[in-house]
Amino acid sequence: MAEAVDRKELTRLVTDVYAQVAQEPGAGYHFEVGRGVAAKLGYPDELLDKVPQRAVDSFAGVGYYFDLAALQPGQSVLDLGSGSGMDSFMAAVQVGPTGVVVGVDITPEQLENANQLRSEAFSNVSFQHAQIDALPFEDNSFDVAISNGVLNLLPDKAKGFAEIARVLKPGGKLALADIVTEKQLIEGIVCDATLWASCIGGAMQEGRYKSAIEDAGMRVVTVRENPQYQFLSESAQEASGEFGVKSVSLLAEKR
Ligand SMILES: C[S@@+](CC[C@H](N)C(=O)[O-])C[C@H]1O[C@@H](n2cnc3c(N)ncnc32)[C@H](O)[C@@H]1O
Repeated sequence: MAEAVDRKELTRLVTDVYAQVAQEPGAGYHFEVGRGVAAKLGYPDELLDKVPQRAVDSFAGVGYYFDLAALQPGQSVLDLGSGSGMDSFMAAVQVGPTGVVVGVDITPEQLENANQLRSEAFSNVSFQHAQIDALPFEDNSFDVAISNGVLNLLPDKAKGFAEIARVLKPGGKLALADIVTEKQLIEGIVCDATLWASCIGGAMQEGRYKSAIEDAGMRVVTVRENPQYQFLSESAQEASGEFGVKSVSLLAEKR
């Protein structure tokens, strides 16, 4: 599947789309953005109210998973594809001042937003430019890795999951929400770069997605569907209906 698309072009398109999401969250996309969709997915108001609202406005995630992550004070957390930082800030609230949160992303405009929103209350959060499939961290660095709506965008998911497993401590958790499919996508959709950047074209068949996580040295503990998540545009809805494109929240543990 990954070979069917030009990776450089894809990265350019993905960063173009998410630069726009960072700068003009209300512009209209194939997917919903902002507080409305976060609330619909299950983010409690109590958490939404505790983080910078500009980060909430640019939220482009696909599901809620913090109940699965069950973050504890003092933990170290890595947010993969942190966007404008909503989930990173929420993680920071949960791990408290003795914990630490690092967000990584490849879109400069998203990182700029997130960095601007860091205030004294969030001195335990930092953001850096990094690719998920080449993480600039030592082995066994983090207690928990979180991610929302991102792994589907990676052309080489096996490499991404291997990197996540490498930087997690033994027994560490991966808690995420992402887009997967019931049926394998056809090339016409995979090669549609706009659908890829909208979290559809790169989505992996669910069984293969779980196997990729297991093959990387993690055990899948829980998978649950998020039927509240719906794509907006007609082309996105058509592809979703035909191939069972859906959002799931998932918890895995490093063996
Ligand atoms: C759908 S958005 C989700 C952002 C954020 N997690 C949220 O919930 O609002 C996907 C994000 O993943 C980032 N991204 C895509 N591919 C990436 C990669 N290979 N490494 C790091 N970040 C990536 C994009 O720049 C974008 O900010």
